[in-house]
Amino acid sequence: MFTGFAGPVARADINPALLNDKPAFIADVMRQMTLEEKIGQLRLISIGADMPQPKLLKEIAEGRIGGMFNTVTRADNRPLQDAAVRNSRMKIPLFFAYDVVHGLRTIFPISLAQASSWDLDAIALSARTSAMEASSDGIDMTFAPMVDITHDPRWGRTSEGFGEDPYLVSQIAKASVRAFQGPTLPIAADRVMASVKHFALYGAVEGGRDYNVVNMSPMRMYDDYLPPYRAAVDAGTGAVMVALNSINGVPATSNVWLMQDLLRKDWGFKGVTVSDHGAITELLKHGVAKDEREAARLAIKAGIDMSMADQVYDRELPDLVKSGEVSIQEIDNAVREILGAKYDMGLFHNPYLRIGNAVDDPVEVNADSRLHRDAARDVARKSIVLLENRKQTLPLKKAGTIALIGPLSDAPIDMMGSWSAGGVAKQSVTLYQGLRNALGNKARLIHARGANITEDRHIVEYLNFLNWDTPEVTQDKRSPAAMIAEAVKAAKQSDVVIAAVGEARGMSHESSSRTSLDLPANQLALLKALKATGKPLVLVLMNGRPLALNWERDNADAILETWYTGTEGGNAISDVLFGDYNPSGKLPISFPRSVGQIPVYYNHLRIGRPYTEGKPGNYTSQYFEEPNGPLYPFGYGLSYTDFSLSNVSLSSPTMARGGKIEASVTVKNTGARDGATVVQLYIQDVAASVVRPVKELKDFRKIMLKAGEEQVVRFAIDEDKLKFFNAQLQHVAEAGEFNIQIGLDSQKVMQQSFTLQ
Ligand code: BGC
Repeated sequence: MFTGFAGPVARADINPALLNDKPAFIADVMRQMTLEEKIGQLRLISIGADMPQPKLLKEIAEGRIGGMFNTVTRADNRPLQDAAVRNSRMKIPLFFAYDVVHGLRTIFPISLAQASSWDLDAIALSARTSAMEASSDGIDMTFAPMVDITHDPRWGRTSEGFGEDPYLVSQIAKASVRAFQGPTLPIAADRVMASVKHFALYGAVEGGRDYNVVNMSPMRMYDDYLPPYRAAVDAGTGAVMVALNSINGVPATSNVWLMQDLLRKDWGFKGVTVSDHGAITELLKHGVAKDEREAARLAIKAGIDMSMADQVYDRELPDLVKSGEVSIQEIDNAVREILGAKYDMGLFHNPYLRIGNAVDDPVEVNADSRLHRDAARDVARKSIVLLENRKQTLPLKKAGTIALIGPLSDAPIDMMGSWSAGGVAKQSVTLYQGLRNALGNKARLIHARGANITEDRHIVEYLNFLNWDTPEVTQDKRSPAAMIAEAVKAAKQSDVVIAAVGEARGMSHESSSRTSLDLPANQLALLKALKATGKPLVLVLMNGRPLALNWERDNADAILETWYTGTEGGNAISDVLFGDYNPSGKLPISFPRSVGQIPVYYNHLRIGRPYTEGKPGNYTSQYFEEPNGPLYPFGYGLSYTDFSLSNVSLSSPTMARGGKIEASVTVKNTGARDGATVVQLYIQDVAASVVRPVKELKDFRKIMLKAGEEQVVRFAIDEDKLKFFNAQLQHVAEAGEFNIQIGLDSQKVMQQSFTLQ
């Protein structure tokens, strides 16, 4: 237990009994703090060129830093915590934060992949394992989950979120927050505090251009984009990271409505708000602050408790308080939340809770024995989506000769995806290694690179300029033709070709927006040459966003969307390729046919002249050069077995106010293999006071059925599932007819109707 604040400067003793009374304890600490010490708590600082360790230690000892991010081991964090609790006057512990988005040392599939599992237990396992690894490396808070809904796959951070659907992402938000934080307060030693991000609407940036503006109607915000953040708040997230974008003309970082009216008053959020990296200074660039002084004033008044990676609070707040432009209450409100978060992290009880004693330091932070490979493999298999499987090309036999081709076939860094924290590339199992593990001596494996990620020098330079430690995209110096020739030769000697193609991880990352969703031209040329050999062609896609896969869909014999599968990726993909695991993933985001179609998302609003499949399209809402709708719809994904749905029925044709009805459906595994699928429940409001979506996901169930087995799946429907935000932003269910649609994807559904009285 942390035993007090007896420091070199005399002041009132803290009554240890107060330690178990959070408000009283914090009030007592605050009573003893100087203004400078309070402002110090508002700073979240990363070690770096402008903050070398000696300077950092000095400022910590002066009580000028509240928390750290990007320092990731016990050994690194201990001296910093020592400086805080031994050398600073108030001895207030620091907290340590990091972007543990899909794993710390063990890298799990990227978030978009995890969402494809539609398996909340699997997603919770990833967060739980991340929390265990992070906490044992001295980390108290993760900047996750990232729950920004997006309809625009040009946005590079699509990879980091969980897709396009507010219901699915909200379920994931809840499951993640609970798994990171655990059920107790203070948070246990082997858990970490969550910081849901990026509040709010970051995924709706204009044109998919990172950091851009968001302009959105309030109804769309409330119905489609805000629910996941709300779900995280309801699940008890300790922190909220505020987004870099502006919202209807006001930057999130200076947005009083966002942080006070919505977050604190309407949603009752009780934790700490953190700015995004440098966001307060960026208020100048947004053009809402003329200087840093004004930026600091706007941010603190709007409700940014902690400023990440800029100095403006430190520099400007003391004088702003002295001049009366910022009140001491405003500073106190922020300090109270920060101390409250530290209290909830258990740091006042024990500042070394997650740093441990020096003797406990893990000798080798990257030791393979510290990894959770089984969990990573399990989640990775569940995250893979089978998009095509003509003539039952998959699963493959472990026999004969297999050619493995493609720039991503043996790419350890790319397996990890972006935001892979403390992941170590050489610990990830590439597809090549995974196939070798699976095949042993049973089959011959021939390997050729076939193509670089891209031949576009500008793109390679850009990707290598991103914030990595070393350049990540290495070019094979041979000509594209020579590489293809080698690949074709390998294909010709084989019974089947596996082509691992897609994006380098940096292509689906922060600041990596794209204008094209096609595979790079040289990779497509490789695929065409492989196709021309006449050998069965299996595509293993690795990418962090929906791609436009027209040629691929028409020509590949099978397509596996594997996203970036993480440390155990190669083994997990091999499990699926050879049928040791029957794929069950479903897309959490629509795949467009072309970039020109964006936005394409399933829960779009109804319109007066809808496009109707199979009818001439004149004067309906469509593009005349290509069919409407996605290439692959939301919720779609195949299996090695088949499922049928029948008997969609409702327990009653009417629902009373405050009542409940039940929808049920019989699901049968009609194929020859055991398999899992996701039964999806959509609801359409037939006529409402405002325009409503064509359908909305309201529930789902992932079920496992043995070959031939059938099961009745039941969904409870209550008024809550019928509610939406009306023109006055009241959350209401309006009387009238509703269509219940049940399917194994968002397009092929069976329907029944009922009336809400
Ligand atoms: C990102 C955040 C991240 C932060 C700290 C920012 O650039 O937008 O998502 O948490 O950096 O690394």
